[in-house]
Amino acid sequence: MTSHPPRADKVKVDKWIVQEHVEGVPDVERMYRKVTEEVEVALADDEMLLRTRYVSVDPYLHGIALDTPIGDHMGADSVMEVVEAGPSARFAVGDLVQGFGGWRSHVVSDGAAWQWTGTFPMVFPAFRRLEPAHYDEVLPLSAALGVLGGSGMTAWGTMTRFFSVRPGDTVVVSGASGQVGSLVGQLAKRAGARVVGTTGTPEKAGYLAELGFDEVLEYRHGDDLEAVRETLLKAAPDGVDKYFDNLGGGFTDIVFGMLNVGSQVAVSWQWSSQVGQEWHGPRLLNYIMFPRATIRGIFAPEWFTDDNWAALHAELGGAVRRGEIHYRQTVHQGFDAIPDAYRSLYADRAASRGKVLVEL
Ligand SMILES: NC(=O)c1ccc[n+]([C@@H]2O[C@H](COP(=O)([O-])OP(=O)(O)OC[C@H]3O[C@@H](n4cnc5c(N)ncnc54)[C@H](OP(=O)(O)O)[C@@H]3O)[C@@H](O)[C@H]2O)c1
Repeated sequence: MTSHPPRADKVKVDKWIVQEHVEGVPDVERMYRKVTEEVEVALADDEMLLRTRYVSVDPYLHGIALDTPIGDHMGADSVMEVVEAGPSARFAVGDLVQGFGGWRSHVVSDGAAWQWTGTFPMVFPAFRRLEPAHYDEVLPLSAALGVLGGSGMTAWGTMTRFFSVRPGDTVVVSGASGQVGSLVGQLAKRAGARVVGTTGTPEKAGYLAELGFDEVLEYRHGDDLEAVRETLLKAAPDGVDKYFDNLGGGFTDIVFGMLNVGSQVAVSWQWSSQVGQEWHGPRLLNYIMFPRATIRGIFAPEWFTDDNWAALHAELGGAVRRGEIHYRQTVHQGFDAIPDAYRSLYADRAASRGKVLVEL
């Protein structure tokens, strides 16, 4: 592989690096520092220089941050535009791509899949080309990080590749107001289920009711669990057939005690351990035995295939265009806003709806 001579002018690259590992609720001032570098870009034949257009902030980044070596840039899903490309690069100048570019203004990469060796070793998928004709006012390019991106794939993949929702089923979604939970709830409703969700404020409860949720519980980690149990028993009087779990902890314990025969549990995230620091072993597994429940971990990148992206655009995108499914996004502006946008996932949650991202 040859390397091209450096460009005459250097590229100014902004990036947020991890400067401290902080457990618990992320303290972004301590965790991140902005660094600006003048970089001589000398692309290998298969490499590209990409400019970041949108950056995603997601709760799972907490685990990524704790596993990122001090001084390295913060990883994250992003939408980028190719500004320079080597002769054998997988994308051409002007192409728009989505991939794990991180909290950086510019990225030099060959766009290949790569192995992450953190607490949860996983493969970050190769960059994928976005077809500009697929995006418009209803579903703008930023949706490639939300309803038509990882969040949408998490919801759609769970509904089509794991859950078998039947009319009349009771589907419970913990942490339902975000992009993932709100889509799962709406898809379950379309499949004829009775849908119950949790959120933290009355305004968001109203929002979920507008989306078609039959019952919405106001729940925050640390609430009195006996009171929560009573409310959930009223909201789901026939028990729980499908449980989409974003939170874990005491709320999940309550749901386990309400699982019906043949029920399915999708583990999407565990706020209680990853942020709340409650690392327990498997809990209340006797409640899994009698109802013969199936618990499955969700890792959306397993569904990142060309066929699935096409199906996601056709099915979920189609439902959005027909007005059958609604999504919201909260778009922060500017590179410097990234840590604050990330903080908003944990503090002042009341202001955000749906997918939270940053436009650079
Ligand atoms: N497994 C996978 O492949 C995969 C892929 C994508 C995303 N995910 C995960 O799926 C989850 C949902 O994603 P998202 O983008 O929809 O996230 P989001 O927008 O941040 O929504 C998170 C939800 O959790 C609730 N929540 C946050 N802190 C809480 C607390 N202390 N107590 C109770 N509830 C709390 C929020 O409550 P409010 O309603 O009050 O705001 C909200 O409903 C995330 O945790 C994300 O990491 C997993």
